[in-house]
Amino acid sequence: MKLFFAFFILSAFFPLLLFSQTIISHPPNNSVGAKPADSTLVPPTVCIIPQPNKLTLQTGDFTVNSKTVLVIPEKNAPVRKTARFFTNRLLKVDGTNIQIKDDHSPYPAKNVVLFQLKPDDVRGGKESEWYQLDVAADKITVVAGGEKGIFYAVQSLLQLLPPEVFSPNPLKRKAGWKIPCVSISDEPRFAYRGLHLDVGRHFFPPSFVKKYIDLIALHKMNTFHWHLTEDQGWRIEIKKYPKLTSVGSIRKETLIGKKSANPQYDGKPYGGFYTQQEIKDVVAYAKEKYVTIIPEIELPGHSLAALSAYPEYSCDPTKKYEAATTWGVFEDIFCPTDSTINFLKDVLTEVMDLFPGKYVHIGGDEAPKKAWKESAFVQDLIKREGLKDEHEVQTWLIKKMEAHINARGKRLIGWDEILEGGLSPDATVMSWRGVNGGIAAARQLHDVIMTPTTFVYLDYYQFDPAVEPLAIGGFLPLEKVYSYDPMPDSLTAEQAKHILGAQANLWTEYLTNGDMVEYMAYPRACALAEVAWSPLELKNYPDFKARLSVHLKRLKYLGVNYCDKEFNPVAAANK
Ligand code: ACM
Repeated sequence: MKLFFAFFILSAFFPLLLFSQTIISHPPNNSVGAKPADSTLVPPTVCIIPQPNKLTLQTGDFTVNSKTVLVIPEKNAPVRKTARFFTNRLLKVDGTNIQIKDDHSPYPAKNVVLFQLKPDDVRGGKESEWYQLDVAADKITVVAGGEKGIFYAVQSLLQLLPPEVFSPNPLKRKAGWKIPCVSISDEPRFAYRGLHLDVGRHFFPPSFVKKYIDLIALHKMNTFHWHLTEDQGWRIEIKKYPKLTSVGSIRKETLIGKKSANPQYDGKPYGGFYTQQEIKDVVAYAKEKYVTIIPEIELPGHSLAALSAYPEYSCDPTKKYEAATTWGVFEDIFCPTDSTINFLKDVLTEVMDLFPGKYVHIGGDEAPKKAWKESAFVQDLIKREGLKDEHEVQTWLIKKMEAHINARGKRLIGWDEILEGGLSPDATVMSWRGVNGGIAAARQLHDVIMTPTTFVYLDYYQFDPAVEPLAIGGFLPLEKVYSYDPMPDSLTAEQAKHILGAQANLWTEYLTNGDMVEYMAYPRACALAEVAWSPLELKNYPDFKARLSVHLKRLKYLGVNYCDKEFNPVAAANK
């Protein structure tokens, strides 16, 4: 009996023992012993996602009110913007008006928030993202290696406040805004933390893209991969080639449901594109949120919409091309003639002028080689250039794109198919067909971003398809995303340095509006954010879920149409 009792006690508390070992000095609810054995839904006092590296909860609170003063480094416009981002939230939600002062003017010793930079401390490299956040009863101190770190500290600070701080409407709060006393040291595990959005299959307006970027930033991710061109629609204005949008942004109709032996179409033209002015506006918006945008221009495949506008860049200009009305992979692709190469370079030039980030994504995935096999031009090119096959033709083309991109001081990214004919010298690889492409590229000392279907394809079902809106297929529950470790264990230390980080991808064949995008993205993107930011040894799914239960309240205030079935099994069963 005694033995049974000891076993019972041990098994009831074993998860907590593990928990308190891993979450160094982070006592959930300040009272480990009081936690029930099934701790999954009991949120700790501090629920930050992604989980900070080191978090020590102390006693007491700092109260934010209209007498609070926020002090920033003198003449630092980016930090001032971040400070305003913070103070505007409180001002908007209940009129709490925090004054911002710079550190060369006098400021009080108490009821003060200090933002301080230590630019010489470049932990984690030049793009320093670390921050230290200390909340005491009379003072909050934020120290960071750079402006990014200050911004991430503010994201943590907002998550230390009650979820109501995210309310879009004014609220009357009687209790005031209390921030628990805490000490946080934080920095990301990976330098690259991304989320992708396909706007080719369906178009989402700039206002939605900005909200998507806000959410990326809220989760301390730093990259938005904007998939701008597809078979079904070209979505970016290119001044030199106006037909790309006047013709290529419109498909005549769209498949209803899944493709079947008797496919049905809606008969409605569908279109949309971003003007260059809109792109510039989104880029500027993202900059303030410390989110870099990687534009993707698909080549040589997924190019049917472009060919519908400019058939002369196909291998058979006598054919009539139309933007695709169904989903899948199409055999008509760009033909690597001189005129196509000039066209693609022109397009990339305009794209590089619009996007200040260092990367340009050229796609490279799913480009069937049939049209090239049948093309006298391509076959002659193979002979002339001494290429082995059509895969080497693709590499030959991509090398030309890379030289053009590198000449502008930028770098090329492609999907893992760009390995097939040999990597171009400086290419970064996005490993999507599992992780092997990423491993192979890292072994060649090329940079890699891990984005495997098996762990981070957010277009996959998250619950039983019987209770879910129509999706492409697959099955990727929240816990599986959370379980992902982007660092393969088969790499040497030198090779491992080339794993820059991870990204979740969101393809939109079946996502016709922003609500549906958010439903698929959240909360799985929260899990990805923690995968990419938090130290591996702190990962703990029950703890994540407990924090997520509070985090979802924030997302609700932010108007995010997240999937709630993880916390609402009844809905999952009955829907
Ligand atoms: C991809 O999912 N085709 C990159």
